[in-house]
Amino acid sequence: METIELKINGRKRTLHCLPNATLVEVLRDQLHLTGTHIGCDTTQCGACTIHVDGDAVKACTVLAVRSDGSEITTIEGLAENEASHPMQKAFKACHGLQCGFCTPGMIMSAVDLVNKGCAVDPAAIREGLSGNICRCTGYQNIVAAVLQGASEMQEQSS
Ligand code: FES
Ligand code: FES
Repeated sequence: METIELKINGRKRTLHCLPNATLVEVLRDQLHLTGTHIGCDTTQCGACTIHVDGDAVKACTVLAVRSDGSEITTIEGLAENEASHPMQKAFKACHGLQCGFCTPGMIMSAVDLVNKGCAVDPAAIREGLSGNICRCTGYQNIVAAVLQGASEMQEQSS
């Protein structure tokens, strides 16, 4: 077993894991942060997307031991003071989901796109979300949600 220290959703955690455990396994199995989903075994679907040190990362592709010392945000840590994040509100308002399986990863990727100034128009959003697969929605409402969420995030930060 290896010992690692992570700051997860603002809280420092010391964890013990196998050297070959992935970050998503540790988040889900040890910390019960099951909002981060596993939808494939080929690094294609993006359902496992989280933020590691401020960047969107597919948590199924990262060994937990490689994340030692990192600051991690999962979908559970996005809301502040019990209030949903503007991107979460926009997905709800724009019906940017159906079954919801892809939604946590979509939202984490969308927030990262906005933070990096890359959610400027529908084409840029489609390109930015190309690593996240949705089998239900046809993407139209997801793109609308990200546009609305981006505008609300910018309003909130100004
Ligand atoms: S579970 Fe990570 S990309 Fe599909
Ligand atoms: S809402 Fe079902 S996979 Fe996207």
